[in-house]
Amino acid sequence: MIKGMLAAALLVTAAPALAQVELRREGQAHQLVVKGQPFLMLGGELANSSASSLDYLRPHWADFKAAHMNTVVAPVSWELIEPAEGRFDFGSVDGLIRDARAHDMKLVILWFGSFKNSMSSYAPAWVKRDQARFPRVQIANGEGQEILSAFHPANIQADAKAFAALMAHIKAIDAAQNTVVLVQVENEIGMLPTAREYGVEANRAFAAPVPAELLAHLQANRTRLVPPLRKLWEENGAKASGSWAEVFGRGPAAEEVFTAWHYARYAEAVTAAGKAAYRLPMYANVAFNRPGKLPGEYPSGGPLPHLIDVWKAGAPSLDMLSPDIYFPNFGQLIAHYDRPDNALFIPEANNAGRDEGAAEAFLAFGNHRAIGYSPFAIDDLEKLPKSRLAQGYDVLAQLTPSLLAAQAQGRAVGVKAPVMFDGTILAEPQVVELGGYRFSVSFTDPWTPLAEQKLATHGGMILQVGEDEFLIAGSGLWITPTPVGPGPHIAGIESAWEGRFEAGQWRRGRLLNGDQTHQGRRVQFPRDHFSIQRVRLYRYD
Ligand code: DGJ
Repeated sequence: MIKGMLAAALLVTAAPALAQVELRREGQAHQLVVKGQPFLMLGGELANSSASSLDYLRPHWADFKAAHMNTVVAPVSWELIEPAEGRFDFGSVDGLIRDARAHDMKLVILWFGSFKNSMSSYAPAWVKRDQARFPRVQIANGEGQEILSAFHPANIQADAKAFAALMAHIKAIDAAQNTVVLVQVENEIGMLPTAREYGVEANRAFAAPVPAELLAHLQANRTRLVPPLRKLWEENGAKASGSWAEVFGRGPAAEEVFTAWHYARYAEAVTAAGKAAYRLPMYANVAFNRPGKLPGEYPSGGPLPHLIDVWKAGAPSLDMLSPDIYFPNFGQLIAHYDRPDNALFIPEANNAGRDEGAAEAFLAFGNHRAIGYSPFAIDDLEKLPKSRLAQGYDVLAQLTPSLLAAQAQGRAVGVKAPVMFDGTILAEPQVVELGGYRFSVSFTDPWTPLAEQKLATHGGMILQVGEDEFLIAGSGLWITPTPVGPGPHIAGIESAWEGRFEAGQWRRGRLLNGDQTHQGRRVQFPRDHFSIQRVRLYRYD
């Protein structure tokens, strides 16, 4: 009897029935929770082909670790794991998981299945070569594209089957250890070079009524819809039924909503199949549109800001829609994806070599309660451990426990000079309020000619950690506090200790004063590196 119980207990420890990774709401923030502990992802994405050779990747892991990353975002390609139909080879996945574990790192797996940047180049040869069974997109002139059609169940089923097999395999080897904590379904889905497909099935679907689920979502959420979608629907009479052209009008905007719905349904089928095998949090990533371009000139129908509702309605199994950001207006773009129904995760925050990246990470974590940040092509960057990104990650890693608590309690703010799409930097001081103080944050070094300063690389965050007490971290910041509300109206700096967190413990460095606080007038963070100060304020008249 006891023997039997012991055996049963061992079984339970060896193979947990449920995933131990989930996205959870904690106070004002969403958190990625791994084995009961919130996990803040300081990530980096591999260049597209790197994970296809473990030997190629091997020398890079030490650099990722030295750059203070805790997660590698890595593709798994359909053609590698299912080289012949129904015959799976998970060698590439096993190697990734083994090497990540050896470096004590987590993984985000990118499922490069039917769609990778609109195209289907990662589909296996047995799919590509069998056009009769796996039809491709046709554009208006009948020409075929290297893109699987979203209107043929055979395509969806083949992809979903492979993805489910991948998830079942990850469950078998990783459900106890949770090296893999997040999964991306497809990559930057979106139709090119036209706003929609024009094959026979696609044309039939476009003439058919708009599905009731989408219309019900529009009606139930009318006042909460993203403004461009609401406008499009209302301008066409806010109809409760009709064809796509009747409900959304004639033209590319309506065609894009149609494409978004069908791509969302495709992603839903694949995601649901994967989750049925192993329930990890999953997301779809999005390529942004350039202002002024038409759908089809940019990938039409992806989970773009104006189509978020279509995707939320069409793909409820996806936990997040996640922005890939290669445009300068990072702050504006991420704000669309910080929503009560969407945790912010940035799987591709432009290329890892950019000096702006670290400041952007501070903004995302501080202002938008991001659960993770990850620039692209980390293995392409020579001297990654010496990069500004690595320096910023060092500070963010130290701050993580305080930051997670502050995110949940609404006691964090991120600061960074906004950058517009055309690269214009709005360099005026930013005023933020926290813990009874108003902080005027200037991004310009008063002692250095403006032309020598790279303002877009300056940024940081303020966390309130007690009464009158703040952890402030960043680079290129000159911060003047004033009290808010009644009472004394001037703020003084009682102390500004430079320091580091070592094994979670705050270790004081210098007590900053004199020139380092401009004789007590403000808190200052040099431009050349990221640092942390523990600051106590007081009030006087
Ligand atoms: C965005 C894609 O999602 C990535 O896989 C990669 O192709 C980059 N673009 C290249 O800049």
